Amino acid sequence: MTDLIRPLAAHCITFANEKGGTGKSTLAVHLLISLQAAGYRVAGVDLDFRQRTLSRYVENRQQHHPHLPTVEVLVPGLSELESRTAAAEEDQDLLRQSLDQLAQNHQFIIIDSPGSDSPRSRLAMSLANTLVTPLNDSFVDLDLLGRVNPESNKVDKLSFFSETIWQARQQRALAKLPALEWFVTRNRLTQLDARNKRRVNSALEELQKRAACRYISGLSERVIYRELFPQGLTLVDLGQTRQGDQRPAKNLPKLTTSHLAARQELRNFIQALELPQN
Ligand SMILES: Nc1ncnc2c1ncn2[C@@H]1O[C@H](COP(=O)(O)OP(=O)(O)OP(=O)(O)O)[C@@H](O)[C@H]1O
Ligand SMILES: [Mg+2]
Repeated sequence: MTDLIRPLAAHCITFANEKGGTGKSTLAVHLLISLQAAGYRVAGVDLDFRQRTLSRYVENRQQHHPHLPTVEVLVPGLSELESRTAAAEEDQDLLRQSLDQLAQNHQFIIIDSPGSDSPRSRLAMSLANTLVTPLNDSFVDLDLLGRVNPESNKVDKLSFFSETIWQARQQRALAKLPALEWFVTRNRLTQLDARNKRRVNSALEELQKRAACRYISGLSERVIYRELFPQGLTLVDLGQTRQGDQRPAKNLPKLTTSHLAARQELRNFIQALELPQN
């Protein structure tokens, strides 16, 4: 894999967490559309060959809202070779090829990875300038990053996933690539269970020192995220007007105050990533 870890002519943002259902795809598509709306050339890579959430999102978008700008998302194929080593190498080669292809005419590439470990997810982490790990607001999710002592609430030991990120950092350093910035964000925050929330918060504060990650604000639990998927829409699209006039774009749900609050959370999340403004 080491020969695949070489400079990429685009800023690569990878969403990864070995646990499923934490909001990787939701955040990935929202970041993608936000950056596009801000005028950047941005494309996606969907590594979740089974669920294909990111690419299905974009297909829904193009089908139901053809007036919206198109978004390019590649789904690199999976090797059919029998040897596991050879298949792993081919999978990684295919990912690298997709990234090189997109980097020719995009400033940002957003990779959405599945909620499981695989050779190409590891490559996607090693090639990330920015790595984002969303967590649900619970100790079950936190355990994937580090073991929290229930008495002291301190992190006793880092997990396999955190170790994998250390390895990605080492590989980047060996290849003389810029340091990887790792962000951990809490998704689906609720107003319930304030005590649990405070404890997860203080464990994460602690974890960021041990794992050299930055813990940043995330998104609250809101039904709108689930409602937007079938239409291929994001919060960014709500309240948009048609090009050239002030009428709302066709078939878009109405913008409510809850959506405005959600949008602000999204903006705070993106700002915290400190992406290059090139
Ligand atoms: N902030 C949120 N509020 C409410 N629902 C959410 C929120 N974020 C994500 N969801 C919903 O939670 C489910 C899982 O989210 P998502 O698919 O983004 O997670 P994932 O990490 O990509 O999962 P997987 O590991 O299976 O790929 C989806 O139904 C999504 O609509
Ligand atoms: Mg997903």
